[in-house]
Amino acid sequence: MTTARLIALDQILFVLVAAAWAATAGIALTGLRQPAAAGRRTLLIAAALCAAAIVMTALRVAVTAGLAGAGWWFVAEKVTLALPLVVVPALVSAAVSLPRLLRGTATGSTGGSTPGSARVVAFPLLVTAYGAVAGIACGVVISYPVTAGGAAAVLALFAAASAVTWRLLGPARSPRHAWQAAGTCVLALALALTIGGGWPSGHLHTGHDTGGRGVSVDLLRGPAPAAAGGPAGAGERIRRFTLTAQPATVRLPSGGGAEAWSFNGQVPGPVLRVRQGDLVEVVLRNRLPVQGGSGQENTGQPNPGQPNTGQGVTIHWHGYDVPAAEDGVPGVTQDAVWPGQSHVYRFRAEDAGTYWYHSHQNSSVAVPRGLFGLLVVDPATPVPESEDHVLALHTFGSRPTLSVDGAAPSDLLTRLTLPPGARTRLRVVNTDTQPVVLGLSGAPYRIAAVDGGDVPGATDLDGARLHLAAGGRYDLTFTVPSGPVLLTAGDRPTLLVNGPATPPPAAGPVVDITRYGTPAALPARFDRETTWVLDKTLAVSGGLPRLAQTVNGKAWPNIPTPVVRQGETVRIRVVNRGTDTHPMHPHGHHVRILSRNGVPATGLPMDTFDVAPGEVWEVALVADNPGVWMSHCHDLAHAAQGMEFHLAYEGVSTPYDMTNGNHPA
Ligand code: C2O
Ligand code: CU
Repeated sequence: MTTARLIALDQILFVLVAAAWAATAGIALTGLRQPAAAGRRTLLIAAALCAAAIVMTALRVAVTAGLAGAGWWFVAEKVTLALPLVVVPALVSAAVSLPRLLRGTATGSTGGSTPGSARVVAFPLLVTAYGAVAGIACGVVISYPVTAGGAAAVLALFAAASAVTWRLLGPARSPRHAWQAAGTCVLALALALTIGGGWPSGHLHTGHDTGGRGVSVDLLRGPAPAAAGGPAGAGERIRRFTLTAQPATVRLPSGGGAEAWSFNGQVPGPVLRVRQGDLVEVVLRNRLPVQGGSGQENTGQPNPGQPNTGQGVTIHWHGYDVPAAEDGVPGVTQDAVWPGQSHVYRFRAEDAGTYWYHSHQNSSVAVPRGLFGLLVVDPATPVPESEDHVLALHTFGSRPTLSVDGAAPSDLLTRLTLPPGARTRLRVVNTDTQPVVLGLSGAPYRIAAVDGGDVPGATDLDGARLHLAAGGRYDLTFTVPSGPVLLTAGDRPTLLVNGPATPPPAAGPVVDITRYGTPAALPARFDRETTWVLDKTLAVSGGLPRLAQTVNGKAWPNIPTPVVRQGETVRIRVVNRGTDTHPMHPHGHHVRILSRNGVPATGLPMDTFDVAPGEVWEVALVADNPGVWMSHCHDLAHAAQGMEFHLAYEGVSTPYDMTNGNHPA
């Protein structure tokens, strides 16, 4: 069974086990209070349920043993806490309660004086139920790693509930006893919250623990304004673009539409196409309306003392490893650009390939709403393909669409005519927050590039399908055949080359991208290691405890910042304990994939890699781009729910923070 299946099974068993023990206890208590004849029947049910609960508990132990095979991260809190809490009382129940229940099915009584026997029979059953519930709490509250505080909290509540139950089941139930019992509960809760809560206070942002010291991220800019603003140096090309954030309406051919935020009135924004070596200068202007105002733009003059209003904007160059100050993350590399304001980005287009850009202010809202576009850097030596097209996949509302070469998006089949025999490159960009399965049929094809980087030794694929992570890019190359070629996205025919005949959609196996191409020489030693265990757990997020998308049990902004030193090679292990897929996206760096689930990879560099439930990825990051970098899940809703943090270089700090309305997710 796969790790993902075991995780799902474990979650079902969790609930079933708790329900079974609770029901056993409740029914046993009822049976003990009934007259003999009815009691016999009820106790029989209780005994049967008890047996079932024992079997299910054993099954939980087996599933946990299976999960342990995938790694300690998947079972730490189960082995140390959740299982002992249910297994020990379950054994007592099997030894003490079950035989008495069985005796009761014959006699209608479990023997002995009634209140005393109720305590002997029901107490172990109830405590087992508490243990099972506490086990659920372990998974939700503690996850990985197990903290002393979290363990103390769970144990304190478990002990308090057990103590109160013992009292209440006892012979003398005076009001004084009830008060004592309630007091115990309150004390335990207070203790648990004090020890286990560990809620950070004061800190707006623990990520800025390098703050105030070292070089400011602001100094890590692209080429100086003089170089960019002045005339080009010998052989230097400067490419200038202006991107204006403004409202727009998207009309889809099927008739649907959506109110959007756009760059320059188009969604997607203009395709920025430059040549390797060019100096790129982009002026971002925000002309979105001021919310709640008269609909007029504000003056753009910084207005100290006035809160910023409306929708801020930035531009993040997704997958382009620009100097830190050009990375476009509000609160990390700049302040959000408010309606009326502007900001200039400059970087040298050193790497050829397929990339995209998007706003990073409230990105979980702004990107789905249209504040994105594509960036293509043509290599200094031209690619061999004479046909070169860039494809943006994006979902508006619930309508998946395709935009070819920056044209208006279509939710119907897009048609393209290409000369037979032409070498063709389709640059497919997934701008959605969910992965997409692509299929190309009608011609053998190659994955010529992944996340902008060429794939060494790319081999022909025939009818194979591809899994493209949210934010990821594949360049697909093929020779146009005499017949048609079909591209499907999520099983939806989306692009037809040289119709009208349509080839059957690709239905082959999904390529394991981590094993594609010629294996690269990979680093064998690492200066530093870090493990990111991803899960959905209770954590403080937005100042309140809530169910959050967490890294090592914590949610933004409380996830500690991994700090690296320039020049180091870092091994990052990403473990997905949850049931959601997480496209992890460290800014400023491509990471080389070392292995997936222990299987060695070919080492392709990627900037967004999809860690599915139950998976363990190992990647290598070479710290060659100093800065303070955002690192997050590119399911942007997950980032907004806590799954984002920083990766910082020693000696680099940022003057920005989450005040001034900065809000990266
Ligand atoms: Cu495309 Cu921080 O993301
Ligand atoms: Cu995620």
